[in-house]
Amino acid sequence: MSAFVVQGGRRLEGSVQVHGAKNSVLPILAASLLSGGECVIKNCPRLSDVAASVEILRHLGCRVRREEDAVIVDASQPTGWEVPDELMREMRSSVIFLGAILGRMGRAKLCAPGGCELGPRPIDLHLAAIRALGGTVEEEGGSLLCSGALRGGEIVFSLRSVGATENAMLSAVCAQGQTTITNAAREPEIVDLQNFLRCLGADVQGAGSSVITIRGGRPLHGGEFTVMGDRIVAATYLAAAAAAGGDVQVTGADWRHLSTVTAVLAEAGCTVESGLRAIRLRRTGPLRGVRPVRTAPYPGFPTDAQAPLMAAMTVSTGATVFVENIFESRYRHVDELARMGADIRVEGRVAVVYGVPALHGAPVQAADLRGGAALVVAALAARGESVVTGVQHIDRGYQDLAGDLDLLGAQVKRSGEFVKIT
Ligand code: EPZ
Repeated sequence: MSAFVVQGGRRLEGSVQVHGAKNSVLPILAASLLSGGECVIKNCPRLSDVAASVEILRHLGCRVRREEDAVIVDASQPTGWEVPDELMREMRSSVIFLGAILGRMGRAKLCAPGGCELGPRPIDLHLAAIRALGGTVEEEGGSLLCSGALRGGEIVFSLRSVGATENAMLSAVCAQGQTTITNAAREPEIVDLQNFLRCLGADVQGAGSSVITIRGGRPLHGGEFTVMGDRIVAATYLAAAAAAGGDVQVTGADWRHLSTVTAVLAEAGCTVESGLRAIRLRRTGPLRGVRPVRTAPYPGFPTDAQAPLMAAMTVSTGATVFVENIFESRYRHVDELARMGADIRVEGRVAVVYGVPALHGAPVQAADLRGGAALVVAALAARGESVVTGVQHIDRGYQDLAGDLDLLGAQVKRSGEFVKIT
């Protein structure tokens, strides 16, 4: 079991670059299955979720190799149409492959993704999109079997879902005719996916707005694409600088993609300068409580930044109310933060953080990806040593959290067995 050993109480200084965005590269890897040629995906982070996606592509008959920061996928002759159960269990967001496999192979089989540490993760909207394009969906023994020649149609989502929007896009690209997706998610990662599909020759318009139109059915060629920077990793590093104090520059992410996060950090007393090339955060005085932080679909406050920001707000004057509107169970980091001296009360979707003057180091356990990152953020601010176990959760979304923080003057060391991620 890997762990991070963190010596807290050190201010952070310097500059760090974020890696490619996990939540962009995962649907892009699925989309590469639609190409009849070779896709060169640059700025592809070394994450365990990326490794799992590569395994799925190889299982489907694609040739995949890594060359430095790029992953190269040759999907000219795919042979498979099933996602093995063990890979589905390893990464529940593998459901994003459903539309691509069905669109390319005419059928798809995968086990229904169960819930995860964030609570139930239904896929009813994904399946509704496939049915709207003429696909059939059968459920047998915990598996989903989809089939059919897809044709363009109208998809109207009852609520905004990032994954369902992505599955709808990948299905529609293979469907003969025009598809309109209404109430689409507007996340920047959706725009990145549109740009990747266009690079392969697809006709996709409107990503970033609530209505996406696609003229599908044409064969797609290969292409070269650079993945956007990870806005949640950037938000995490800024929260770390706010928590520990210091003067940090974060490069590689578009500041507009996390302006709701930087606005809260500025309200909390940090000096934030957002420029085209970097976001700079300085914190010298104490953090102060801010107005309620409500998570919402983009361009609202990102749910993935809730935990790291909460960790920073534990050491502040005053109180801050968080309202988690996206997932049912996204406060599993609260009890662990309390072991470090944080004072947080949770009532359903609401968490009230009463700032304390200081945290103390403690042994804590990560239960999910962003909650685990939050524990590291808190440990940086805490006096003394903390040991954060459950690092396998963090490795899903942070390429080298310990190394990046050490670049900024922190002392974060990985202990235990090393897992090499391709
Ligand atoms: C994506 O998950 C991200 N994952 C999540 O990031 C992110 O938190 C989430 O979007 C919200 O921004 C990836 O992109 C790989 P949703 P996704 O479908 O697509 C409900 C991280 O930490 N819903 O937008 O699964 C659902 O239960 C991860 O990087 C349905 O009811 O999220 C949730 O309450 C965590 N039916 C809400 O919609 C469906 O068919 C939003 O979920 C689908 C979703």
